[in-house]
Amino acid sequence: MFSQLLLLVNVANYCFTDTISLYSSFVGCVEGIYLKKRGHNVTIYETFEDPRTWSEERARSINLTMSPRGQFALREIGLEDKVLAQGILAKGRIVHDGKGNKFRSPYNEKGEGIVSLRRTRLNAFLIQEAEETYKIPFHFRHTFERCDTSDQHGAPTTVCVFRNTSGEKETMVKAQADLVIGSDGAHSVVRQDLQNKRKIGMFQQEYHDHGYMELVVPSGNDGQPQMELDMLHIWPRGEFMLITFPNLDNTFSGTLFMPFEKLDEVMQGEEVLLKFFNAEFPDLVRLVGESYLKRHFVEKKKRPGRLISNKVEPYHADNIVLIGDAAHAMVPFYGQGMNAGFEDCLILDRIFQKYGHSKANLGRVLKEFSRVRCKDGHAISEMAFKHYVELRSDIAGVTFYMRKFVDNMLFRLLPKTWVPEYTMVAFTDMPYSVCLKETERQSRIITSTLIFCGIAFFGILVALFFKFWVWP
Ligand SMILES: *[C@@H]1O[C@H](CO)[C@@H](O)[C@H](O)[C@H]1NC(C)=O
Ligand SMILES: *[C@@H]1O[C@H](CO)[C@@H](O)[C@H](O)[C@H]1NC(C)=O
Ligand SMILES: *[C@@H]1O[C@H](CO)[C@@H](O)[C@H](O)[C@H]1NC(C)=O
Repeated sequence: MFSQLLLLVNVANYCFTDTISLYSSFVGCVEGIYLKKRGHNVTIYETFEDPRTWSEERARSINLTMSPRGQFALREIGLEDKVLAQGILAKGRIVHDGKGNKFRSPYNEKGEGIVSLRRTRLNAFLIQEAEETYKIPFHFRHTFERCDTSDQHGAPTTVCVFRNTSGEKETMVKAQADLVIGSDGAHSVVRQDLQNKRKIGMFQQEYHDHGYMELVVPSGNDGQPQMELDMLHIWPRGEFMLITFPNLDNTFSGTLFMPFEKLDEVMQGEEVLLKFFNAEFPDLVRLVGESYLKRHFVEKKKRPGRLISNKVEPYHADNIVLIGDAAHAMVPFYGQGMNAGFEDCLILDRIFQKYGHSKANLGRVLKEFSRVRCKDGHAISEMAFKHYVELRSDIAGVTFYMRKFVDNMLFRLLPKTWVPEYTMVAFTDMPYSVCLKETERQSRIITSTLIFCGIAFFGILVALFFKFWVWP
């Protein structure tokens, strides 16, 4: 057992006003509970103040979604049902086209779905659980400054230095640990420290030129939801898109994703804004009202949030390891960010169980973690971005439906061997990297099937032509 173990989390990376980075604290708490359950001494240091004391307003967010992949990881520590009870199940998507038509597309026939959760609430819940039930001490408002690792007989020990801003006067605090886990989000300072020491081989960060703005669809005058509550609603428009998540109080939280350039243009003033919304999302304007749009976007002068992805390899150095967004920040479109983070905890735990929890084996454990996990992190980042392109454009197009039709048909004919991409990623625990390979393979098969059908169809036409017109 480790005599001391530090977990560094950032509840609130999204305090950086122009960036988003989610999930970190959730992942940190879940990891803490996993390790505490295995008998380790865990202490959690958090940059920001206790989110349980935050106002609603403070919690800027894209809603979180949890799919069965994330649930598997919570099930292991007995938290699945408690978390599910806080959300609402979405069983599929409804696509709204430009004319106000709606197309329903359930995730699968079994009625499985993903759960839409409120971020601040989940955050507060997990911290409460870790602190009260598992007696994990938390130090809020402690900013990570640096760490020094010394190696004694092959068993490294790390001393971390924090700036303690929780009191009237700032102080420096030192803490020593056998294992340090950086779960401090897309802008991870733990990772930066490792990079400065040249201990991370590969680091790629991408700021996407698309930003996001949020809005709320209220419940109707009778308190009932104004759209189907058990679905995500999507308005794909090629270059941009709008998506809404259902809420427990019959409202919907929506997010508009668009290139910054276009966002700036649209948010300029009342007239352009209303013209844009009425042209692109007429049905939505009826639900939220023009006065709300004016108030919300023009008068408040909100700035759009920014999307970021990271690729890092390896995820560890000495006795320090990165999990969650610190390791693999991704765009939010697959709804897998939090799920991938929870899965990190599950996988790290499995490796610990295989090699043992002793200090002597820690090096092997972390090495194995990077070996199995980095390729999954890269794969899901890649798929999340591809999914954005797909969501905002193809979903409304003919080719998308043809491909989806073939995809679903093959799933029905070969349920054991053919699983559509979304199902693999969200509803199974197949490693992301395997999902990606499988998807590429399937995509080739779908393309050939479509080409084959096209040729066959053409052949039949030609045959008919000759039969009826050439030799009547
Ligand atoms: C946890 O920390 C306490 C106090 O520092 C120590 O007495 C105990 O032995 C530690 N537990 C383990 C498993 O090392
Ligand atoms: C989604 O996020 C918004 C804003 O943070 C929140 O008001 C809403 O309750 C969330 N939805 C769910 C299902 O928790
Ligand atoms: C940080 O400062 C506060 C207030 O001075 C103090 O109560 C707390 O113990 C300090 N944290 C640590 C880890 O020493």
